[in-house]
Amino acid sequence: MTQDELKHAVACAAISHVVPGKIVGVGTGSTANFFIDELAKIKVQIPGAIASSEATATRLRAHGIKVLELNEVTSIPVYIDGADEIDYSGAMIKGGGAALTREKIVASVAEKFVCIVDGSKLVKVLGKFPLPVEVIPMAYSAVARALSMLGGQPLLRMKEGQPLITDNGNMILDVHGLHLTDPVAMEALMNNIVGVVTVGLFAQQGADVCLLGTIEGVKTLTF
Ligand code: 5RP
Repeated sequence: MTQDELKHAVACAAISHVVPGKIVGVGTGSTANFFIDELAKIKVQIPGAIASSEATATRLRAHGIKVLELNEVTSIPVYIDGADEIDYSGAMIKGGGAALTREKIVASVAEKFVCIVDGSKLVKVLGKFPLPVEVIPMAYSAVARALSMLGGQPLLRMKEGQPLITDNGNMILDVHGLHLTDPVAMEALMNNIVGVVTVGLFAQQGADVCLLGTIEGVKTLTF
């Protein structure tokens, strides 16, 4: 099976976590896109969705799924999203698609985080994938120095020769060379750096369920 087929399989499996009659939170990325395409098939069962990025909002609307503002809703039973890495405790690295801030906000409101990934994303220790950190543009250099003090090598994410600008008007530092044996502590340390908007470590509040795509089928891990 290809990686895309595994992503499609977990996206299909995630549909059973959507609560009929309730809002669903929707993540960002290629796996989330497969999920959106499946969600479209049952769109009459849900009043709408909360999007974690402009790209996701555009795809949801293209399928005729109503996109609600987070400020309009009081509860989200489930948030469904991919990840760049997930460990055996449900802690994740996210933000490869630069949507980490809105992803973390929507996830924080949701009662349950269902992570959908192909098997290559499951790791013993997080950190091989460079950790995205969203920063206020005027502070990126100062934040990069502080992140270096924590043992990483931050690199400003570029797009077409310019610093990538997020949906929130900020920049991304990708921190290489980390070995995150205590992701909860590292998330707290990085959150304390002035100028950091969001750390792409989802450890203090990780996944509740992981649907893992493998050649033997979709496995369910609960944390
Ligand atoms: C976007 C994310 C994505 O969930 C993560 O990058 C995984 O993406 P994909 O499903 O394309 O592998 O955090 O900010």
